[in-house]
Amino acid sequence: MSLTLDTYRLLGRSGLRVSPLALGAATFGTESGWGAEQDEARKLFDAYVERGGNFIDTANTYSDGSSERLLGEFTRDDRESLVLATKYTALRRPGDPNSGGTHRKSLFASVEASLRQLNTDYLDLLYLHVWDFTTPVEEILRGMDDLVRHGKVLYVAISNTPAWQVSRMQAIADLRGWSPLVALQIEHNLIDRTGERDLIPMAREMGLGVIPYSPLAGGVLTGKYSRDDLTATNAGSGDGTRKSFNLALGTLTERNLAIADVVQEVATELGRTPAQVGLAWALQSPGVTAPIIGARTPAQLEDNLGALEVDFTAAQLARLDEASAIELGAPHGLLASDHIREVTKGDLKVETRR
Ligand SMILES: NC(=O)c1ccc[n+]([C@@H]2O[C@H](COP(=O)([O-])OP(=O)(O)OC[C@H]3O[C@@H](n4cnc5c(N)ncnc54)[C@H](OP(=O)(O)O)[C@@H]3O)[C@@H](O)[C@H]2O)c1
Repeated sequence: MSLTLDTYRLLGRSGLRVSPLALGAATFGTESGWGAEQDEARKLFDAYVERGGNFIDTANTYSDGSSERLLGEFTRDDRESLVLATKYTALRRPGDPNSGGTHRKSLFASVEASLRQLNTDYLDLLYLHVWDFTTPVEEILRGMDDLVRHGKVLYVAISNTPAWQVSRMQAIADLRGWSPLVALQIEHNLIDRTGERDLIPMAREMGLGVIPYSPLAGGVLTGKYSRDDLTATNAGSGDGTRKSFNLALGTLTERNLAIADVVQEVATELGRTPAQVGLAWALQSPGVTAPIIGARTPAQLEDNLGALEVDFTAAQLARLDEASAIELGAPHGLLASDHIREVTKGDLKVETRR
C-alpha cells in the first residue's frame, strides 16, 4: 500500500474528500500540559498541509480554546481548501450548566464560539463530542440540521456515543430528511479494539466513515514506555505529562506493553518504526476512513506520515491481531460460533455482511 495525503477518500455517505490521515490539533497549545507552543504547532500544520493534507481535527475546549484560536491564525491565508472539523459538548464555563451538554442552547452557543475562535464563518464538520444521556435525540438532530440549513455547518458527525443510539439517530435523520451523520469518531487502536463489536459494523451499515482517535494509544504503541513506567516511583503523579495522563486513563499497563512489544517486532521486520506500524494498522482497519495523527513535534509528525507506505504480510497482520484480540462479548461470541453458522446456513455458501 502506498498512499499520500492527497489520495483523498470520501467521508461516509457524503461527497466530501478528505486525506487518509487527519491532523489532530489537541496538541496545539500548552494548556493541556503536553502540547506544543505556537511556533511548533505552526510547523506541524504547515508540514501536514504542504504534503497535501486537508483534514484538521480540533474541539471547542482543546487547550482551553487555544487549539481553535491557533488554527484560526494558521488558516487565515487559505481557509477554503481545508476540511475543518470541531466538536461541541464539553463545558465551556465551569459552573454554568448550559455552557456544555448536547442540547440546543449548548450546540448553538458552542458553534458561535468555535466560529469566532477559528476565525471562519462556517465549519466543515461538527461532531457531537460526548454522549451525555440527557437530551432527546430529535432536539440534537433538528439543531444540527438547522445549523446546516443556516450554512454555519456543512456536515454533522458524532463521537463517543453508544452504537445503538447512533444507529437510532441515523434512522430518524433519514426518515425526517435531516442532515445525516457522516462520520463516527472513536478510540480505535491495537490496544482498544472494542469498537469492532458494534460501533464499527454499525458505522459501515449506516454510512458513517470511521475516524479513529488516539491511534497510538496516547503514545504507548510507539515503544517509548517500559515496565519501569508502571512502578509507582516512576509513574508521575498528575504532573500534567502525557505519561501521567496515560496512567490515569489506564492505557499504560502490562497487557498494553506486551502489545507494544509485538508492534516493535513487526516494525523491526519491516524496517519501519512502531508508530508507523500502529498507525498503519488503524489506517488499514475495515471501515476506517482516516485515523487522526496526534503528533506533538515535527519529527513525530514526519515519523507518523510514514504509515502511509507500510505494507503488512498476512502473517504480520495475524500476529498483530492475535496479540491485541478482544473478547467478542454477547451476542457476538455466540454468533461467531460454528454452532450458529451450522444452524443459520448449514452447508450453504452464503456471503456474510459484517
Ligand atoms: N473524540 C475524542 O474524544 C478524542 C479523544 C482524543 C483525541 N482526539 C483527537 O485525536 C487526535 C489524536 O489523539 P491522540 O493525541 O490521543 O493520538 P495518539 O497518536 O494516540 O497519541 C499522541 C501522542 O503520542 C506521542 N507520539 C505521537 N507520535 C509519536 C511518535 N512518532 N514517536 C513518539 N511519540 C509519539 C506524543 O506524546 P508525547 O510526545 O507527549 O509522549 C503525542 O502527543 C487528537 O489531537 C484529537 O484531535 C479525539
